[in-house]
Amino acid sequence: MPSPSTGKAGTADWYRNFGTIDAPASSPCYAEWSVGIAGDPELIARIEQLPHTKRQPLLILAAARFLGAQIAPYGEFREFLLARWDDVARIVLSRATQTNEAGRCATLLPSLAAIAGSTGRPLALIEVGASAGLALYPDRYAYEYDDGSSVTRLAPRAGEAAPAPAGGPPVLQCTVAGRVPLPAELPEVVWRAGIDLNPLDISNPDDVAWLEALIWPEQDFRRERLRRAIAIAQQDPPLLVAGDLNEQLVSLAGQAPPDAVLVVFHSAVMAYLDSSQRNAFRSTMATLAAERGCHWLSNEGHTVLAQADGSVVVPEMDDARLKGRFLLVQDGVPVGIAGPHGQSLEWL
Ligand SMILES: C[S@@+](CC[C@H](N)C(=O)[O-])C[C@H]1O[C@@H](n2cnc3c(N)ncnc32)[C@H](O)[C@@H]1O
Repeated sequence: MPSPSTGKAGTADWYRNFGTIDAPASSPCYAEWSVGIAGDPELIARIEQLPHTKRQPLLILAAARFLGAQIAPYGEFREFLLARWDDVARIVLSRATQTNEAGRCATLLPSLAAIAGSTGRPLALIEVGASAGLALYPDRYAYEYDDGSSVTRLAPRAGEAAPAPAGGPPVLQCTVAGRVPLPAELPEVVWRAGIDLNPLDISNPDDVAWLEALIWPEQDFRRERLRRAIAIAQQDPPLLVAGDLNEQLVSLAGQAPPDAVLVVFHSAVMAYLDSSQRNAFRSTMATLAAERGCHWLSNEGHTVLAQADGSVVVPEMDDARLKGRFLLVQDGVPVGIAGPHGQSLEWL
């Protein structure tokens, strides 16, 4: 993910910003820990012994949580970090921030259903930057869309999939504004596959523990959603290809059943790519659209937009409206503003 300038002030500032700007609304614990680290020269010095790409607050804090750090005042957390530093460093070096948020299916679903509806064909899905592939099951989750006056509920089609595991599928709650084209039923998905530099394996307890550690401490509802999504995916594990999305996409698209409508989508991935990689991806998508009738759904921060025309700004929208949210772009056209974890969708 994007990182700050190098140097000691850079690292402390990074933690201070994370602790005062990014974390407080979602995790008072991470806010306190991060501000604590920012003012702690000994810990900053240890963090700066790590490669620059491995110093980010979320990665270090998740590694500590993975190793068992509990919600506690900074002093206690500091003792834990110092006592377990070698283990923290080992986890940080072997892992990356690969949060997999099934909740994003709530903001992808209206577009996916509209594509299936307009073509009259079932969907074949490819997610690039899929992590563990949990966003590949939009047909297996339940949804509640709340427009402020009524709630639209959608559930998997009866008999479509294996029975839901104990506890049932996750219920993805999303507040909606504007004329969101909510479908009457979930679209049919006949094929699903993902690409990731490092696919996480939902049958591997360590990978599952890492996915849980990436969720911020106080967000129990997201951990519960993750567990239920993993249980769904474990019944029918996704096809995940290891590799760079630009290198793998064309051959994977060639494996999709030709009678289904192919949709390539991505969430929270383009920030990991530099501009030449984004350009290469955009050009592959244009080829797949022309040759294969493939659709493209992008759910990304607006500053890393991969629109069909290559533009990275949405002129009619000011930063304040988009800040902290994702822009949903369907076949190059911005259609919605989405909560980053799928919690809200404003239709344009
Ligand atoms: C923040 S996670 C988002 C995961 C998933 N899209 C979601 O919304 O839950 C970003 C993922 O993109 C993957 N990634 C980053 N650059 C990539 C590339 N060039 N090719 C394939 N995957 C990539 C990372 O490994 C990581 O798993």
